Amino acid sequence: MSPMNPRIPCPMNIITDIAAMQQTASRLRREGKTIGVVPTMGYFHEGHLSLMRRARAECEVVIVTLFVNPAQFAPHEDFASYPRDFERDCQLAEAEGVDILFAPTAEAMYPDGYETFVTVENLTQPLCGASRPGHFRGVTTVVAKLFNITQPHRAYFGLKDYQQCKVIQKMVRDLNFDITIVPCPIVREPDGLAMSSRNAYLSPAERQAALALHRALRHAEQMVKAGERDARVVRDAVQAMIAAEPLAWIDYVEVVDAETLQPVEQIQQNTLVALAVKIGRARLIDNTVIDAVR
Ligand code: PAJ
Repeated sequence: MSPMNPRIPCPMNIITDIAAMQQTASRLRREGKTIGVVPTMGYFHEGHLSLMRRARAECEVVIVTLFVNPAQFAPHEDFASYPRDFERDCQLAEAEGVDILFAPTAEAMYPDGYETFVTVENLTQPLCGASRPGHFRGVTTVVAKLFNITQPHRAYFGLKDYQQCKVIQKMVRDLNFDITIVPCPIVREPDGLAMSSRNAYLSPAERQAALALHRALRHAEQMVKAGERDARVVRDAVQAMIAAEPLAWIDYVEVVDAETLQPVEQIQQNTLVALAVKIGRARLIDNTVIDAVR
């Protein structure tokens, strides 16, 4: 849909050139338009589309960035095999009324001699940061670059990647980016599996096994609702439920303060139960925020 007139559909503009994107964003800002950006690595599912919809509802111009960022993958990880379908992604984004799809090349984003990186020091240490060293450095670097290129007023991130969302919020505060980060709820399949591009790696049996993640998190919520406050008891119960699934290999299960991401002993307000589990070649993450006081 056109931001000028919501009744007239307008074709999505695909931009690959960084300078062209930056000039377009500058012009839109001069014209007084509110810019919303949704950073993605593509292979869209309802999780991505929910962010686009939220941006569409709140901003005059919606930019989706599509870039499988090599800097956030370790050499042994799945950068080369990460699922890609540019044609389908274009159709889905256009159907959501996205105005601009920005899809730069890796060579343009990281030319020979590239050597500048952004690091959020402490929030990136626990959880996924512990098992994927260097991952968040790649994320914050590319997101800072994408912010400078697309010049958004608002940027949309999913709480499926809870730590990523917190790390970006911290970067924005610490580096004085004049951007509002909008955290968006986790979108799940009808059976509870959190949507992820990496779910494409799962065989039918693995897909079934992956349900253990959501089941274990629901169990944690119920334990707290029933009065359990000992974080270790809850963590052990979640871990045991997932360990009972033969196809699942636990990377971590943690019960932490939802702001600092540091482990807690007692579950009080705003506690995050977060987990990462390998099933087949997919490393899946999921989480829930529990408020024992509610
Ligand atoms: P990607 O995994 O493609 O995710 C893009 C955005 O979609 C992220 O903000 C992510 O949290 C959100 N998202 C993914 N699955 C979701 C779900 N089931 N429900 C709600 N939101 C969901 O995250 C990245 O890409 C990259 O690290 C990126 C930020 C683009 C930097 O390269």
